[in-house]
Amino acid sequence: MNDEVAPYLPEVEKGLHLIPTQATEHAGQVDHLYFALVGASAIILLMVVGLIAFFGFRYRAGNKTANRSNLPSTRTENRVEIAVLAAMLTVFMGFFAWATTLYLDGYRGPEPAMTIDVVGKQWMWKIQHPDGTREINALHVPVDEVIQLRVTSQDVIHSFFVPAFRIKRDVVPGTEKTAWFRATEPGEYRLFCAEYCGSFHSRMLGKVVVMDRGDYQAWLTRQGSGRTLATAGKQLFEAHGCSGCHMGKSSVRAPSLDGIYGRSVALQSGEVILADEAYIRDSILQPDKHVAAGYEPIMPSFAGQLTEEEILRIVAYIKSLQPGDWVKASVNGN
Ligand code: CUA
Repeated sequence: MNDEVAPYLPEVEKGLHLIPTQATEHAGQVDHLYFALVGASAIILLMVVGLIAFFGFRYRAGNKTANRSNLPSTRTENRVEIAVLAAMLTVFMGFFAWATTLYLDGYRGPEPAMTIDVVGKQWMWKIQHPDGTREINALHVPVDEVIQLRVTSQDVIHSFFVPAFRIKRDVVPGTEKTAWFRATEPGEYRLFCAEYCGSFHSRMLGKVVVMDRGDYQAWLTRQGSGRTLATAGKQLFEAHGCSGCHMGKSSVRAPSLDGIYGRSVALQSGEVILADEAYIRDSILQPDKHVAAGYEPIMPSFAGQLTEEEILRIVAYIKSLQPGDWVKASVNGN
C-alpha cells in the first residue's frame, strides 16, 4: 500500500548523475542536441579566445618582430568575416531546425496506447487512469507503451516535470495540455512541480513508476479489487456508526468525508496535511492526532475495535468516495 503515495522525497534514481537518467528515447535525443550545442559553443569559444590571445601576444607593445606597417586593411578582409559569419549562421540554423523538430516531437507523439489524466492541485498530483483507478503523487505506467498525458490544474499554475523523460508541461487552470512519453526502462523516476505555486511548492513531489506489462496489469487488478474492498468497507462504516456523525445524521459536528482522499486538510495546529491513506488510518486509530480546524476532538479511537483487515476496508471505502457522493445519496434516499 505504501507504494501508492509517494513520500515527500521519493527514494528513486539513487546515486549521483551528471545529467538526469535517460528513461525514454526522447530523453536520449534531447541530450544529443544538448551536447552538440555545448560542443559547438565550446569550439567557437576556443576559436575566439585563441585568436584574441594570439593577436594580443603577437602585436603586444614592444614586440619588434611583428611588422605593423603592412597589416592588411579591414576592407580587404571583409570576405573572411562574411565567410565566418555565414558558416556560423548555417551551423546555428541547423541547430534551430534540429531543436524545433525535437520540440514539436515532444507535443505530437505517435498514436497513444492510453491516455491518463493528470490534475495539479496545491500541493499534489492527482492521477486518473482510463479504467477509473485514481492515485496521488504516483503515476504507474507500463513500459514500452506510448502514454499520453492530459494535464490541467484545479487552482494555480503548476508545471509537470519528469527529468528522466525530459518532459515539462506548464499546468494551467482552465486549459488542457497534452504530453506523451514511451518509457524504455522499468523503474521509478522523480516527478516535480517546476512552477512556484505557494507555500508547499517544494513538497509537490511524486514519482513515475514504470512497470513491465504484466506487473502493470496486476497492479491495475489490485486497484480494482480495492473497489470491492470499498463495498465491504461501506458496511463496516455504517455498522460501527461512523456514518452517524460523518454523514450528518446526528447533532455531532464531524467533517464530511466524501472527496476527502487527496485533499489538503487544514488542522487546528495550523498545519496543512495531505489526506492520504496514512492520514485516514491515523484518524480512525488516533483521532486526536490530527484534528481538523473548526472541529472538536471528540471522536473516540477505534484502536482495538477493528481488525487490520477491517481498517483496510474502511480506508478503501473512504478513498473511493468522490466529492458530492453523500449529497447525491441523501437526495436519492439511500
Ligand atoms: Cu505546484 Cu509548484
